[in-house]
Amino acid sequence: MKKVYRKESNSQYWDRRWEEAGEDQSKFTNTNIYPIKYAEMIMTEKTQKTLEIGCGAGRVLKHYFYKGFNIEGIERSQVAVENAKKSDSNLPIQSGDAIKLNHPDSTYDNVLAFGVYHNIENLSEIKTALSECSRILKQHGQFCISIRPDNWEMNLNEWYWNNIRNKNNNSISSKTEFHRMLFTSKEFEELLKDHQLVTRHTHKAKNVSILYRFKFFSLYNSSEATNRSEGYKLNVIGKFFDKILTVLFPDQFCNVLVYIGTKEA
Ligand SMILES: C[S@@+](CC[C@H](N)C(=O)[O-])C[C@H]1O[C@@H](n2cnc3c(N)ncnc32)[C@H](O)[C@@H]1O
Repeated sequence: MKKVYRKESNSQYWDRRWEEAGEDQSKFTNTNIYPIKYAEMIMTEKTQKTLEIGCGAGRVLKHYFYKGFNIEGIERSQVAVENAKKSDSNLPIQSGDAIKLNHPDSTYDNVLAFGVYHNIENLSEIKTALSECSRILKQHGQFCISIRPDNWEMNLNEWYWNNIRNKNNNSISSKTEFHRMLFTSKEFEELLKDHQLVTRHTHKAKNVSILYRFKFFSLYNSSEATNRSEGYKLNVIGKFFDKILTVLFPDQFCNVLVYIGTKEA
């Protein structure tokens, strides 16, 4: 496990992101991208009860809610909750913290948690949050959980933000705030297992390629809301190099690990 630090705290980062992001669209127009591609692997029955932990501005929750799925969400950032509610006050999203869920034991058939647990600073609190996730899942209930890997792509990403994007206003000496935790694939799988969350498959996925950060490789003309529902698109040259890196170094050039499995007490 490795902690990454930046100038702003994790919660300040997410509040700013949700202020800047605009409202999420009501559905994914491309279901072959992270995270919806992976949610689709467990979201098969509309009547099953699903909780999305850390639902952000609601792009995944909206997709399923408007299709008639029995889904609810909780989110720590009040800015994100207000952003989602502004688009539709009927959305079943509540303020809440993954570390202390206000839901009864064995309530849900499915849990979705995309990019949530690596935002928690202490291992003991990560364990508490996983224990909460396990507690509210039914026996044999399914989970789809993603975290950030400790690999070349994620480390390059930090280098980019500190040395290129924020070169003038984010000196090394001011990087004192916890930003996120990076895990090896096995480390997080073991943590899940310690909480009766048994992984069936780990997917190496990508939401934004490191190449997207460079204009030469990207199709840069979309809004953040569009990118969030259609994907962050590379141009032909970007796709070519991204494919080469991914095929040659699959463990090093992915930026999300997605764990799919079931609770087996
Ligand atoms: C990577 S974003 C994902 C948002 C949403 N799942 C999506 O895919 O669009 C992670 C979210 O987790 C939220 N989060 C971080 N720590 C949390 C916690 N302890 N409890 C609940 N939500 C948390 C953040 O505020 C952020 O909105």
